[in-house]
Amino acid sequence: LDRPRALSGIQPTAGSFHLGNYLGAVRQYVALQETHDAFYMVVDLHAITVPQDPKELRANTRIAAAQLLAAGLDPDRCTLFIQSHVPEHAQLAWVMNCLTGFGEASRMTQFKDKSAKQGAEGTTVGLFTYPVLQVADILLYQADSVPVGEDQRQHIELTRDLAERFNGRFGQTFRMPAAHIVRETAKIYDLQDPSAKMSKSAATAKGLINLLDEPKVSAKKIKSAVTDTDTVIRFDAENKPGVSNLLTIYSTLTGTTIAELEQKYEGKGYGALKTDLAEVMVEWVTPFRARTQEYLDDPETLDAVLAKGAEKARAVAAETLAQAYDRMGF
Ligand code: ADP
Ligand code: NA
Repeated sequence: LDRPRALSGIQPTAGSFHLGNYLGAVRQYVALQETHDAFYMVVDLHAITVPQDPKELRANTRIAAAQLLAAGLDPDRCTLFIQSHVPEHAQLAWVMNCLTGFGEASRMTQFKDKSAKQGAEGTTVGLFTYPVLQVADILLYQADSVPVGEDQRQHIELTRDLAERFNGRFGQTFRMPAAHIVRETAKIYDLQDPSAKMSKSAATAKGLINLLDEPKVSAKKIKSAVTDTDTVIRFDAENKPGVSNLLTIYSTLTGTTIAELEQKYEGKGYGALKTDLAEVMVEWVTPFRARTQEYLDDPETLDAVLAKGAEKARAVAAETLAQAYDRMGF
């Protein structure tokens, strides 16, 4: 196999993926399984950086895996697994923690955002070193390409810095990964506040499309999306962020270009665009939800997929860890 490697992970914490997760990341997972030796995981170790109820975590981890399959991951063409099933992630993370500067870790902007939400007492050391666990996740698989949204760019830079540092000190061990960020969908915005990214931790859920919500709930959110006082349907991220976000979503879900959409809606109002996009969304999420439910209704098959995935992932991870340990003097 001389295909390049891809690796990415997604958190199970919210139960449902949101539209930003899908358009920014999961769609790229599906595409890259055709060209790459691809490893995708549900990152349950990352989830416990904030408090989790064990029963909910276990259920949400399975729901996340089912959604990845429903989105189009094919276990015969990629390796799908649960992070905690491969103990090497935590083992290499410790090594990487010992190579990371405290100041360097302190500069991670996602930590600043997330810790602000948790408060000083609620912020764990795990939340602080979360990006370093992500470094280990990527380097264990000798990944060339890491499909992620824009918010992860800084963590991929940290990964490159640490790969270089380790290789420089202990000898060539890790391959240098690169972020795979698709510009058009790298940042999907909140439907109520198009200056903020769509996020599961949004202030209100009104601007957040959860893929597993009742389709009519999502349709309603699209119909009440914030646009602007103008009426022209034109892509202009700077001056018309709400309309541009809707056009991005519409274009990506249907495979229609933005230019074609601008032409289609020439002389029509925002209402027409939103009504049509709401319908597109319903048509997309309805079969997605049904497929997710099918995987959840067949726990033996899901378990078998995840067990096989863990075995394949572990073979690669163990080899990399053994090499890293050896070079360090263990
Ligand atoms: P969240 O960002 O909601 O906490 P994760 O951290 O699990 O969810 O993110 C999973 C993937 O989804 C990451 O690759 C991340 O970059 C991507 N992603 C999250 N939110 C968005 C968004 N609004 N637009 C584009 N991609 C996003
Ligand atoms: Na994120």
